[in-house]
Amino acid sequence: MRILSGIQPSGALHLGNYFGMMRPALDLAQQHEAFYFIADYHSMTSLFDPAERRQNTLDVALDFLACGLDPKRTVFFRQSDVPEVCELTWLLGTLTPMGLLERCTSYKDKTAKGIPVNFGLFAYPVLMASDILIYDSNIVPVGQDQKQHVEVTRDIAIKFNEQYGETFVIPAPQIREATAKVPGTDGEKMSKSYGNTIEIFGDEKALRKKVMSFKMDSRTPEEPKPDAEQNLAIQILKLVAPEAEAKAFEDKLRAGGLGYGDLKKALFEHYWIYFAEARKKRAELAANLDYVHQVLREGASKARAKAAEVLKRARKASGVE
Ligand code: TRP
Repeated sequence: MRILSGIQPSGALHLGNYFGMMRPALDLAQQHEAFYFIADYHSMTSLFDPAERRQNTLDVALDFLACGLDPKRTVFFRQSDVPEVCELTWLLGTLTPMGLLERCTSYKDKTAKGIPVNFGLFAYPVLMASDILIYDSNIVPVGQDQKQHVEVTRDIAIKFNEQYGETFVIPAPQIREATAKVPGTDGEKMSKSYGNTIEIFGDEKALRKKVMSFKMDSRTPEEPKPDAEQNLAIQILKLVAPEAEAKAFEDKLRAGGLGYGDLKKALFEHYWIYFAEARKKRAELAANLDYVHQVLREGASKARAKAAEVLKRARKASGVE
């Protein structure tokens, strides 16, 4: 069984991405054959700064390797290093009804808001279908927001198989549970677009300041807080501190006598320790970019071998070969 997922290179990794997407992806890759790629072609539909794209792409590679992706086990590569995926996008696109793409929320939401859309954004789900089908992927772990795209992929694959004969494996989405919903500094879901993130890698002083900026209410330290489990710092502490310790803080907050400042200080310390090893590893990798590029090249060469095989199948089936 092959797992496949694409990661958008969209800026600095934060706690929300880490617990929501990266940790589950790394855990899955320990149990199964996995292909993970950095979706730089997809980033072109909404990011138009070449230097930023290059930097973001490298950052994703560094983040994943620093957080424990094992390139010997997992095929890890950059989407654009497998240009076969573009050719397959064309073959698939010619069988994709306009209506199917018009119904995709990624495109629909933008047009509804009057945002001008380009062909790439409209064709985004077809490129994604190509990403998935070209590696004979069985399972595609994605967030809820991407489920529709995997369903479109299935529709396209079924249609191709019906039109040209059995060619593609029909993949299934695996929707990541919203259990690890990480609150941001303002209590909303942590997300770059809300400006409420705590990054994993960065300057200690600046990050400490961000953690200390978590919004709390105005109750005095002495007051008991029966709703302690809803406290933002407690929720995150549960992710980064040993269970017993997080529980001790929660109990103390509930009983009264723990100030928010002290709680946030403890949160910062635990958060800092939790990612200490990854930070060290990332600094080492950043000082050895040749190695990182080599990992991506090797990943691409494994991915390309598979992609070439499936593309050939599709070319033959459809009569371009
Ligand atoms: N569109 C996905 C996202 O925004 C990224 C992606 C591109 C992807 N190709 C994919 C995910 C293929 C899974 C499979 O998150």
